[in-house]
Amino acid sequence: MKTGQELARAQQDRWQAAYEQNRWLHGAEPSAAARWTVRLFGAAGIDDVLELGAGHGRDALYLARQGFSVHATDFSESALDQLRREAQAEGLDDRVTAALHDVRDPLPPADGTVNAVYANLLLNMAFSRAELRSLVLEIRRVLRPGGLFVYTVWSTDDTGYGRCEDLGDGLATKDGFVGRYFDEGLVRELADRWELGGIEPYQEDSRRLFRITQAKPAA
Ligand SMILES: C[S@@+](CC[C@H](N)C(=O)[O-])C[C@H]1O[C@@H](n2cnc3c(N)ncnc32)[C@H](O)[C@@H]1O
Repeated sequence: MKTGQELARAQQDRWQAAYEQNRWLHGAEPSAAARWTVRLFGAAGIDDVLELGAGHGRDALYLARQGFSVHATDFSESALDQLRREAQAEGLDDRVTAALHDVRDPLPPADGTVNAVYANLLLNMAFSRAELRSLVLEIRRVLRPGGLFVYTVWSTDDTGYGRCEDLGDGLATKDGFVGRYFDEGLVRELADRWELGGIEPYQEDSRRLFRITQAKPAA
């Protein structure tokens, strides 16, 4: 079994290679979660979003087209290059910024300065449970009181659950990618000291997922 650092490095290389092979790896259309999140953030009067694990930006670009300012981060430079190119081509570069960042490192924003954080299919990547807990703590730190966090993850109801090679600590691997299937218990554990708005099971393509909405308590 690789150490945490070795695993992280290998995953960064794996994602980088995948994006170099296919610039539109996740397609050009926004995810179902992004379409839903636009309505939630819009109704909450939010107009700027920090997106983590944005990939080549199908959702960041969609959010920007809907009028949001988006700061998108990922640990793959190839994906971010594609995102920047597309933002420029669509004339959205005044509303979309992109920066290389590994979410195992502290988030750059200062305490309480971010209105909303969005992460589609990032938390189910190759993170230990301890890394997940510190990432969620970091997100809470940077959000302003009342700020919103929406994220999605693979669910243990997915047909892939239990069919990939087990790496221990709840992680599994297929085709060189490492990830974790979430059950409701883990979602609730990560929502400790948050206001949990909802845990919605949903399906996209053939995948069974959870969409989680939580808010940093106002006081
Ligand atoms: C399943 S893809 C989802 C991409 C994008 N959110 C979307 O839905 O199109 C997961 C993304 O997380 C990124 N990622 C994985 N581990 C990361 C880490 N430790 N820090 C930052 N990004 C990471 C990968 O590079 C990849 O772009």
